[in-house]
Amino acid sequence: MTQDSGSADDPLHTEAEPIWKRDFPYEAAEEEEVTRREFARYLTLGIGAMAAGSVGLAAWTQLRTINTGEPRPVVALHRVAIGETFLFDYPTPQDPAVLLRLDDTRVVGFSQKCTHLGCVVYFEPEESRWHCPCHEGNFDGSSGEVLSGPPTSPLGKIELEVRDGTIWALGREV
Ligand code: FES
Repeated sequence: MTQDSGSADDPLHTEAEPIWKRDFPYEAAEEEEVTRREFARYLTLGIGAMAAGSVGLAAWTQLRTINTGEPRPVVALHRVAIGETFLFDYPTPQDPAVLLRLDDTRVVGFSQKCTHLGCVVYFEPEESRWHCPCHEGNFDGSSGEVLSGPPTSPLGKIELEVRDGTIWALGREV
């Protein structure tokens, strides 16, 4: 078995040509060529991995927007008059939320945190909108979409459902 000991006793070793050079017989120009080729390959692999990672992250983000939070009852429907709001917290006690009863059967719910810098939004019935007093941000009353002001994202939506006269929170889009 050949070993690269570098010893002068080694008949395969010479000062002019080390053993590794014999095992990898590239000329200087070819070595540079290989290095460039290797670099291009690793660069391509790196870019491919980054692209795959971005696609995976986007898919994961999309899945995450489906919902978070466990289904739970919020309030009896009859306790919220049509056009009125009800404050609650969801999905955790640290997440202020608010719902609006639109009519006999329909309710919509949102995170009460403004998507600009997190101030609390309030419903303005005369304008049918959610208003943030911090920087005059406004959101549509039933969809939570941005109407005006600095926010660029809609209010975080909470999926609600009326079951046997009780309003349930089913999950929160994030
Ligand atoms: S925090 Fe609501 S508009 Fe700025």
